[in-house]
Amino acid sequence: MNILLLGSGGREHAIAWKLSQSPLMSHLFIAPGNAGTARLGTNLPVGVNDFPGIKAAVLTHQVGMVIVGPEDPLVNGIHDFFLADSDLKNIPLIGPNREAARLEGSKDFAKQFMVRHGIPTARYRTFGESDIEAGVEFLRSLRPPYVLKADGLAAGKGVIICPTLAEAESEFTAMLREQRFGAASMKVVIEEFLSGIELSVFILTDGRNYKILPEAKDYKKIGEGDTGPNTGGMGSVSPVPFAGPAFMQKVEEQVIRPTIEGLRTDEIEYTGFIFFGLIKVKDDPYVIEYNCRLGDPETESVIPRIQNDLVRLFQSVAEQSLGNETITVDPRFAATVMLVSEGYPGDYQKGKVIGENAPSGGCLFFHAGTTLNPVTGETISSGGRVIAVTSYGDTMKEALSRSYENAEKISYDGKYFRKDIGFDLGS
Ligand code: AMP
Ligand code: GLY
Repeated sequence: MNILLLGSGGREHAIAWKLSQSPLMSHLFIAPGNAGTARLGTNLPVGVNDFPGIKAAVLTHQVGMVIVGPEDPLVNGIHDFFLADSDLKNIPLIGPNREAARLEGSKDFAKQFMVRHGIPTARYRTFGESDIEAGVEFLRSLRPPYVLKADGLAAGKGVIICPTLAEAESEFTAMLREQRFGAASMKVVIEEFLSGIELSVFILTDGRNYKILPEAKDYKKIGEGDTGPNTGGMGSVSPVPFAGPAFMQKVEEQVIRPTIEGLRTDEIEYTGFIFFGLIKVKDDPYVIEYNCRLGDPETESVIPRIQNDLVRLFQSVAEQSLGNETITVDPRFAATVMLVSEGYPGDYQKGKVIGENAPSGGCLFFHAGTTLNPVTGETISSGGRVIAVTSYGDTMKEALSRSYENAEKISYDGKYFRKDIGFDLGS
């Protein structure tokens, strides 16, 4: 079977790497892909939101399954597009439909869903431009810091945490009045700040059954010690030492199961991945957010730990027989260090020539923002996050030190990475 994978980041390179190990796959196409995925299949110059272009690619290349990496096409309804098209409707697409993807696409929808189904989350209220005054009043009833969230997708930038009431009031007003995040901030969620440690939990579901995948922790801030602005993610580790069996049982009972049951009660058909962004407050899990896809850079340490044939798992999602599968997890740690461009997440230069020596000793390189120079054939940088370095180890420390050793095998002008991934997890 030929497979088409949509996306172009480290997450997609990791998925492509895993798919390539399956005897069930004949040829892999990636749209648009990066210099790393080009080594595992054929990159197609088609954007993830170009549905007619995707249709043409599926038909031209006799694709038998489509896997969606990022959230955008899902929130934009690619699943619905396939189902509505007589040529595409029988081709399985892994990822939820538009309605189900609202769990990520609208914070207000997700919060209402959680409240309706008794899923633990921060207390909140949602406001539009016509009720700015009520919003300000609600802010005054909370204690600092204040959490403001644009309702819609804002490329990971729609959450603002304000230390003072004055700042919160002015940000809140600007988000609504000036639509600081475009249409995404037509509505703003104000919520209570939760204090704890975050982790990411993933499941794969066929709508009836679900399988819990290895959990991970990601590091979002650019600076060591979790300082400075947020990025797409500077590293990740899996497993998460503080998420022991008792805690994970609470996650399953209090979060995962009520989510699956809630979707069924609400008659929302959900197939694909659910990413639970959780925070552990004392010993209890709270949901910070849902995403309708895998996380990046969590995927780069989660996928290498899954020992199942990924194509087989996706087939059982399509056949609604995921209940027959058992997830087998590599007991080792996997740790990912993201190499980024100097200046990121602010302005940075692209087009830096990348030198890469083969990784060694249980290490993998997953490309993120890379591309092939069409003239010289050289691999060059094309994004803020450039290459993810993932290693296995019997301990987290061992996995991390392998990743740091191997990070030296990649060179480009302005290479930066955090040297303290996992710093808050002990050893
Ligand atoms: P989100 O885009 O919803 O993941 O939010 C981005 C980040 O903001 C999260 O990863 C948290 O670090 C932080 N955050 C969001 N909501 C809360 C909250 N209610 N309490 C504390 N931190 C939060
Ligand atoms: N690493 C967080 C995300 O993918 O949204």
